[in-house]
Amino acid sequence: MSDKIAYARHGDIAVLTVKNPPVNALSQAVRQGLWDGINKAEADTGVRAVLIVGEGRAFFAGADIKEFGKPPLDPHLPDLIRRIEASPLIVVASMHGVSLGGGLEVALGCHYRIAVPSARVGLPEVHLGLIPGAGGTQRLPRLAGVDAALDVMTTGRQIGAAQAHDLGIIDVIKDGDPAENGLAYARELLDAGATRRAVSELPLPAPIDWDATFGATLARSKGQISPAWCVRAIEAAYAGDFDAGMKAERKIFFDLMQTDQRKGMIHAFFSERAVGNLPELKGVAPREVSRIGVIGGGTMGAGIATAALLSGLNVHLLEMSPEAGEAARGRIESNLSGALRRGKISPDQHSKILGDALQVVTDYDALAEADLVIEAVFEDMAVKKVVFAELDRVCKPGAVLASNTSYLDINEIAATTSRPGDVLGLHFFSPAHVMKLLEVVVADATAPDVAATGFALGKALGKTSVRAGVCDGFIGNRILSTYRTCADHMILDGASPYQIDAALEAFGFAMGPFAVADLAGLDIGWAVRKRKRAEGIDPRARDAAYADKLCEDGHFGQKTGKGYYDYAAGPKARVPNPDVMPLIEAERAAQGITPRDFDDEEIVRRYMASMVNEAAKVVGEGIARRPLDVDMTLLFGYGFPRYRGGPLKWADIVGLDGLLSDIKGYAEADPYFWAPAPLLEKLVAEGRTFDDLNKEEG
Ligand code: 3HC
Ligand code: NAI
Repeated sequence: MSDKIAYARHGDIAVLTVKNPPVNALSQAVRQGLWDGINKAEADTGVRAVLIVGEGRAFFAGADIKEFGKPPLDPHLPDLIRRIEASPLIVVASMHGVSLGGGLEVALGCHYRIAVPSARVGLPEVHLGLIPGAGGTQRLPRLAGVDAALDVMTTGRQIGAAQAHDLGIIDVIKDGDPAENGLAYARELLDAGATRRAVSELPLPAPIDWDATFGATLARSKGQISPAWCVRAIEAAYAGDFDAGMKAERKIFFDLMQTDQRKGMIHAFFSERAVGNLPELKGVAPREVSRIGVIGGGTMGAGIATAALLSGLNVHLLEMSPEAGEAARGRIESNLSGALRRGKISPDQHSKILGDALQVVTDYDALAEADLVIEAVFEDMAVKKVVFAELDRVCKPGAVLASNTSYLDINEIAATTSRPGDVLGLHFFSPAHVMKLLEVVVADATAPDVAATGFALGKALGKTSVRAGVCDGFIGNRILSTYRTCADHMILDGASPYQIDAALEAFGFAMGPFAVADLAGLDIGWAVRKRKRAEGIDPRARDAAYADKLCEDGHFGQKTGKGYYDYAAGPKARVPNPDVMPLIEAERAAQGITPRDFDDEEIVRRYMASMVNEAAKVVGEGIARRPLDVDMTLLFGYGFPRYRGGPLKWADIVGLDGLLSDIKGYAEADPYFWAPAPLLEKLVAEGRTFDDLNKEEG
């Protein structure tokens, strides 16, 4: 028998203990071991019941995702579960940790289910672009009803033991050791004369309006298709017997396995976990951080302080004056009330945080004992240099000094201190207590343990942290500047901001670039344009000044009520601002441009080509270590659709050679903007993909 399953006899009960750390994924060896274990128990004279229990952190985390996309190996999971269910012995599942996907499907194939109170169950396959493929769509509705089954499957959310018990998924909840609980329960069942039973033999609950539910689910899923296919798989249960339903489920599962959405989502799953594992930081211990200083309590400083407080850290926030300090405290209090309202913290935690965890100060000496300080003052190099000189003066040796700058040079900031090794960028996204992305910007002199501390802080704050090098805008904002410029060029040439937003939202972005600009504040882009113009713009670059005119008139987007859109009827009511098109038309006329039509396909193609080309430059220059670092930056900070995996995974899927030839085609009219990335040319010449580079760095 496979070494993944241990077989033991306890009187008339056989125990199959699963040993596949870290989370007992149902790999081929585990499936084979369970199959052999059931055979052995049935042949073992005197055995009347079988207990299946997991060792370590979980019952089962589901099918082994690493096997996806490869030819399926015997025994297949649905057959194994059918085999377990068909056993004449009483089969008991004892669940702890998570039972997800195929893991819950195994439990549903067992005859009885016991779980510890902390156990969690779910069918998260939709998050991988799939549906449950081992009977989940056929068994769960029989047990819990169609509505509950659809809720669990289409959201992919985990539910706790108590709710699972209410739904009939778990028979008994009992605290204690899962193996001992399972044995005692199996003994009880045998003593009570319990007999084999099977969820697949339960009658089907009343059907629902399948077409309406399919349509509504599709509309809710913002372009992702797998949730709606859960509906079709359940519907199939009603068309024939159980085996016919299983066949239909399997077909949908394998059809989805072939889709680009499945490839994108599985890339996202593994990249999300790989992004914080940097080979260069292996074995480097982070510095201890419990006391945080934040300089500046505006939008970002208040958000960063909130994130730190919510994670249990003590924060000293420094502002310029007592009045500014009070305003900062007000912002933090309002963020924390939101967290309280949403149940993220208890009333007790809320008052404790406001009681002593947060100190608002105006004197730098209060930061003498801080382990890490994050500067979030105005985006102005001169102001930042003054702040870092003060920090250098008061902070204890070994304190980590970070800047939240969006674009400025961390090397230049570090050089103003006597300890550049302690300086790095920690670039949060707005709102900082909500957005998941953190760019850890490693400057030339940043010490490895300081970079490691940035990642450790990110983890403590629940962020997805990405390593970035120093350049104008790091990974995310540098790429954003390029694709925004591409959108501006399309506007000069004839597209409208509204058409561009609509085309990109249809592609799957949470918001189009102009709606995003209105949300972030048009003054941010304006300040960047002014800075770049002052530094000197390359004469070959096309310029668009129409957006400056909006800002000159005081229209900064949502916060002033008007930007590209008019928000008079509320932030969600995006009505085009009638002042915008005349400004654009005037600019076209001034530049002597005759506008032409763009279709949505061309808009997406150009926008994505500019994004991929800049991303390839960012990887080629080492600003991002790996393509997956870019993918996760765009996914967690810029609303890129998860089911497309990230811009470089998308590029691999659509084909790098086609993209490069598009870029070369666009370059005929504008060779400066569309200069192809050397890395993209190299990959095409070598017939390789961005994902090949991810694997090399592995
Ligand atoms: N297959 C293969 N590897 C898996 C896995 C799986 N199902 N689930 C987790 N892992 C790996 C992770 O990649 C990670 O590997 P690493 O250490 O090399 O990076 C390791 O296990 C630990 O995972 P996490 O870091 O995510 O640990 P957490 O404790 O934070 O979370 C978890 C554990 C909740 C189980 C989380 O990993 C998770 O959600 N896993 C995916 C669950 C899932 O989607 N299951 C459904 C699979 S599809 C299916 O079952 C199809 C069926 O219907 C036929
Ligand atoms: P903001 O204008 O809302 O806040 C800046 C705060 O800093 C103000 O409260 C001001 O009183 C305070 N301040 C200024 N000089 C100070 C000094 N010398 N000492 C103490 N406090 C001082 O600005 P915002 O948006 O919070 O940006 C802060 C930094 O974060 C900037 O570098 C910006 O580029 C960056 N950033 C901004 C993002 C955004 O979406 N707003 C996103 C990510 C980074």
